Amino acid sequence: MKKVKIAILGLGTVGSGVYKLLERRKQEMPSKAGVEIEIAKILVRNLEKAEKKVGRELLTDDWREIVEDESISVIIEVMGGMEPACTIIMEAFRAGKHVVSANKDLIASRGKELLEAAKDNGCDFLFEAAVAGGIPILRPMKQCLAGNEISDIMGIFNGTTNFILTKMTDDGMEFEDALRVAKELGYAEADPTADVEGYDAGRKVAILASIAFHSRVVFEDVYTEGISKINAKDIQYAKELGCDIKLLGVAKNTDNGIEARVHPMLIPSGHPLASVKDAFNAVFVHGDAVDDAMFYGRGAGEMPTASAIVGDVIDILRDIEWGCCGRIGCSCYRELPVKAIGD
Ligand code: NDP
Ligand code: HSE
Repeated sequence: MKKVKIAILGLGTVGSGVYKLLERRKQEMPSKAGVEIEIAKILVRNLEKAEKKVGRELLTDDWREIVEDESISVIIEVMGGMEPACTIIMEAFRAGKHVVSANKDLIASRGKELLEAAKDNGCDFLFEAAVAGGIPILRPMKQCLAGNEISDIMGIFNGTTNFILTKMTDDGMEFEDALRVAKELGYAEADPTADVEGYDAGRKVAILASIAFHSRVVFEDVYTEGISKINAKDIQYAKELGCDIKLLGVAKNTDNGIEARVHPMLIPSGHPLASVKDAFNAVFVHGDAVDDAMFYGRGAGEMPTASAIVGDVIDILRDIEWGCCGRIGCSCYRELPVKAIGD
């Protein structure tokens, strides 16, 4: 049976989860995907720290070693940040490798270029984990809901801020204490400013709106306002009004163009989104045929994020063994017409 070699870029919260889940599923890969797998290399900066998690022989701090290894077919990018992640992924496509990424920062700004590079080189580029962590939302949007004209998306897209707001509302915790716990639990970004200022949710809204509206929405198109100014008094006033404060992301496809924004909102305590607690996310979608659909689950953390990534990897493995599918990045993919913001 064919053996597919996989490399992981990064062994932090998500990389460790991906490593564990691939090892857990390894024996089932022949029946799930028609191939055997081997984790061939893992890229890190600090070799000593990573040696506490995996064998030294698996580790490298030189990304070229991975991209230039012709025996590696699939690369999982979970290192984060714009550079060197972008350069490595581009080089990986040039070397004919398929890539799975969870990197919202990169995809929300340079997703189009990356998808084009993947397509030009006959490679897959999948990133289900980049929006709402473990919740399946990008593939349902591209496939199951493809028969709809999607007009509205609304939801909780950031686990860290939902965790902070939940702890402030339900347990009277201080903002800084709740953020510290969110960091310890692996929910927050390396620089949590992206979480608390709404940039992370804005990136997810940009990615999802691009797919839902067959458009190109980048992070800079999304109005963002975070929760750093929310204090105990705001929470108290909201309670007196029978409301909860949630950081919501909204995208609408209107006659005047696309509207995309992230900001704190008051929602009635009986609203379904008010019951979304801790690091859970929820996404409402309205389509002309399906009417309302709601997606709910864990939006951050080691294993939920690994779930989405390993799902993408298995999809690619099935392609490698069984052939074509119509997905973005695949040679059988056909472009949909693109509508620009403000059209
Ligand atoms: P971490 O900071 O926990 O881990 C990052 C890893 O990448 C570390 O092992 C780090 O190595 C390595 N790394 C970073 N830069 C380099 C570099 N230049 N060269 C080599 N190795 C490097 O991040 P997370 O695991 O939390 O997040 C990873 C990605 O997944 C990000 O894009 C994030 O936005 C995304 N994501 C995160 C989720 C979460 O719940 N945490 C959920 C969904 C997506 P070292 O430790 O040696 O520095
Ligand atoms: N920092 C992100 C969050 C990770 O808290 O939602 C998941 O994308």
